[in-house]
Amino acid sequence: MTQQTTQTDTSKMTRRNFLQLGAGALGLLALLEMGGASLAFLAPRKIEGEFGGVVKAGDVDSFPAGSVTEFPDGRFFLIRADDGGFLTVYRRCTHLGCSVSWEADKNQFVCPCHASQFDFYGSVENPPAPRALDTFAIEIEDGQVVVDTAKPQTRDEFEANQLVYT
Ligand code: FES
Repeated sequence: MTQQTTQTDTSKMTRRNFLQLGAGALGLLALLEMGGASLAFLAPRKIEGEFGGVVKAGDVDSFPAGSVTEFPDGRFFLIRADDGGFLTVYRRCTHLGCSVSWEADKNQFVCPCHASQFDFYGSVENPPAPRALDTFAIEIEDGQVVVDTAKPQTRDEFEANQLVYT
């Protein structure tokens, strides 16, 4: 009789422990999901074809010498110099971060916020911008211009070795 009572108590404890364990596991699972969702939200987006990722700009031959082509999704301009070299400039003004626009008639990038002006290669022509527009790395792969917008590269001014050739 005593033995039977002991077995029942052990059985009740086991059920209680099982329920507590289950509740704890569910709580832990919910916590992990919330943590994972938060990390995913905070992580920088790296989407192919958009700013933050790799952008395939197009065939080398589709960019004439002496041209500037805007890539709004990539937030950059692709410059092809008269000698065929390629350069990208980040559209973010180096003063306070407004978006510059390319004004072909003036052959300049112009910032609408405080009137900074940059030349064809993104060097400052008119302050308050403190330095040239940032650039992004370019690679020529199978005749295609590929731009990596993950990390803007700062520079004081344009130098010829910044141009990339096929
Ligand atoms: S943000 Fe471009 S000049 Fe001030």
